[in-house]
Amino acid sequence: MADTPMVAAHHVRLGSNSGQPMTRRDGIAKVTGTATYAADNHPQNLLHAVFAGASIARGRVTSLDIKAALAHPGVVHVMTPDNTPALSQDPDQKPTPFTARIDVLQNDKVRYAGQPIAVVLAETLEAAVEGARLVKATYDSVQARIGFDDGEAFAPEAVGISTPPKFSTGDFEGNRKKATQSASVEMETPLQYHNAMETHAVVAQWDGDHVTVDMPNQAIGLAKPGIANYFGIPPENVTLRSPYLGGGFGSKAVLFGPQMLGILAAREMKRPVKLALKRDQMFGPVQHRSATRQSVRYDMDSDNKFLAFEHTANVSTSSFDNWLDGAANAGVSLYATPSISVSHSGTRFDTGTPGAMRAPGIATGSAVIECAIDVAAEKAGMDPLEFRLLNYAEKDPSNGKPYSAKALRECYKAAADSFGWKDRPLKPRQMRDENGLLTGWGMGTSIFHAPFFPAKARAVLRKDGSARAETSGADMGQGAWTVLWQMAADGLGMAADDIEFDIGHSELPDGSVAGGSAHTASAGGALFAAGNDVIRQLAEIATQDKDSPLFGAGNERVLGENGRLFKADDPNVGESYTDILQRAGIEEIEGKGRGNRDKASTETYAMFSHGAVFAEVKVDPDLFQVRVTRLVGAFAAGRIINPKLAKSQLTGGMIWGVGFALHEEGIHDKRSGRPLNNDFAGYHIPVLADVPHLEALLVDEEDPHVNDLGVKGVGELGITGTVGAIANAVWHATGIRTARYPIKIEDLLKGAQALEA
Ligand code: MOS
Repeated sequence: MADTPMVAAHHVRLGSNSGQPMTRRDGIAKVTGTATYAADNHPQNLLHAVFAGASIARGRVTSLDIKAALAHPGVVHVMTPDNTPALSQDPDQKPTPFTARIDVLQNDKVRYAGQPIAVVLAETLEAAVEGARLVKATYDSVQARIGFDDGEAFAPEAVGISTPPKFSTGDFEGNRKKATQSASVEMETPLQYHNAMETHAVVAQWDGDHVTVDMPNQAIGLAKPGIANYFGIPPENVTLRSPYLGGGFGSKAVLFGPQMLGILAAREMKRPVKLALKRDQMFGPVQHRSATRQSVRYDMDSDNKFLAFEHTANVSTSSFDNWLDGAANAGVSLYATPSISVSHSGTRFDTGTPGAMRAPGIATGSAVIECAIDVAAEKAGMDPLEFRLLNYAEKDPSNGKPYSAKALRECYKAAADSFGWKDRPLKPRQMRDENGLLTGWGMGTSIFHAPFFPAKARAVLRKDGSARAETSGADMGQGAWTVLWQMAADGLGMAADDIEFDIGHSELPDGSVAGGSAHTASAGGALFAAGNDVIRQLAEIATQDKDSPLFGAGNERVLGENGRLFKADDPNVGESYTDILQRAGIEEIEGKGRGNRDKASTETYAMFSHGAVFAEVKVDPDLFQVRVTRLVGAFAAGRIINPKLAKSQLTGGMIWGVGFALHEEGIHDKRSGRPLNNDFAGYHIPVLADVPHLEALLVDEEDPHVNDLGVKGVGELGITGTVGAIANAVWHATGIRTARYPIKIEDLLKGAQALEA
């Protein structure tokens, strides 16, 4: 890190690019098909790889008949555990918490349905597909265990990346005794599969012991040494290219078996190999969101203020790894509560291993918490918004720290006003539309951490006035190509159109993980700092040059904008970057940077983005079909670099919330353990017709502490809050609360029968 100076805060100002609703700079390339995704690469002499997946979920492969596959025209080889060499790193080791245990034909064990058991290599994709179909396996099969009542229980050591599974604060038992009323909710959330539009893929080419890998990846800086470890080569022998990702959602942040098999096959065959997953293969080896069984309880005093908050979550993982969604940590910083007790337990399913999926922990946890809040409001006889304001957290209840900034009140107001919340009847089943559909309004609070990763970046300014900025960052559709470009240009004090910009491959400075909603703050902060480092050096030259109008001005008193350096207190005094460099006879200046979060701030403040989501649903009174007809959210996430793309992220998150509330569910057959709905016909996600009206408002929030630029994330925020808002709206329409997500017609019908009885 010594080579990447941090830029002091007094240099921090943003230029004219940030804050603009710039259109995606990669948009034309994407819609015209010239943006190259991993599987679009077709090197000469390419072999196609398709893996055969296990048809059982637990047991052993006792024999593999590959004769028919090998005899198929075009098939050149079939990799099996019998002929596949060991990797240099045991794939069941986890050298870092970002490593998953992967299945790469190292033995005959089967740990989940769809696990790769053989890889067919062929001259054409069609031959490889047919070859994989012709592989015949026999198994020694054991009954699969999928579901909380069937899986093996265990006590987890950590949840998420490395969060403790239990937390408590305050006099929980004492406060509970003091309580005059309580509200509790028990709900389950299902397995959810990431299902990015672009399936996981790899194109690998070896040249001696150097490998070039085209692979969508959210964390190039982690993937490069990770691949090197598996293949026993130094990290500098791995070139990873990931200029575009067709969605990531967390499942492209870690290395998985199929892609490592593609790289291994290329080394074995001494030819380039492409391996791209088919949609059904996305339901196993490349992560999913844990299922949860949650219980949330709020205890209140006679003034309807919270005394105690309890959240327990039983969370699924695989039989062989230990990632657990941290659902029960979602509420510890949310509402004012003097005492808290949260804990996780684990259940092992015979599925692939879960991992981070958009708003991990918070999405699942808040989906249940927001229902409990509304049940509590109902017991208090209060409007849900009034009730949330009564229990508004002025400080983080988990640790007493002030928030670095929290404009949640403003979010509540902006979204409620726009939605028309004040006209909401308190009781359920009060509203019908002109067609007689039951109509309900519900709300939820959005919250997400504002983490910060140590990303690095480089910027270069040349004598001819041209400039370049770069970091290894990842655009998975969220807009990094544009937002990071804007920040890089502002760091250099130039227009975005006047600089070259590059992200998405491993030869660039480590832009860290595009995840945790931290990429704009982290990689953007680094790019901005790198540009500032250039300006600092340039000012050094100008202010010491007697021939410069800036002579003697002092480094800290000059600014750069539009390719010109000028006095901060007298913008008329200045000169162009090129004049300075040409007079000094300097070819180029290189700046390095990483974004900065003040260490003391980290210890002093609780850092979160916030928001409020209001939902309207219409429910058929007889058939109980649910439609979300309106969603209005307002969000505060510090400085917004690009309002157009921030809104796009937030509305995308809200749509994800619709899917969570009403559609998404990975269903496995209890007997075989196989996924039953491993395609888009069976695994439902929202389409356009599922969300007629969608509005995301951005609330101004200045956060002086979160990092030098005051930037927080918006990627995951919009999911949280939305799920509960929809469930609460369904209750408001029908008077029914279901015990699980997604909210289904059959559960509402049962609820209706119970209401009538
Ligand atoms: Mo994410 S689940 O931070 O890509």
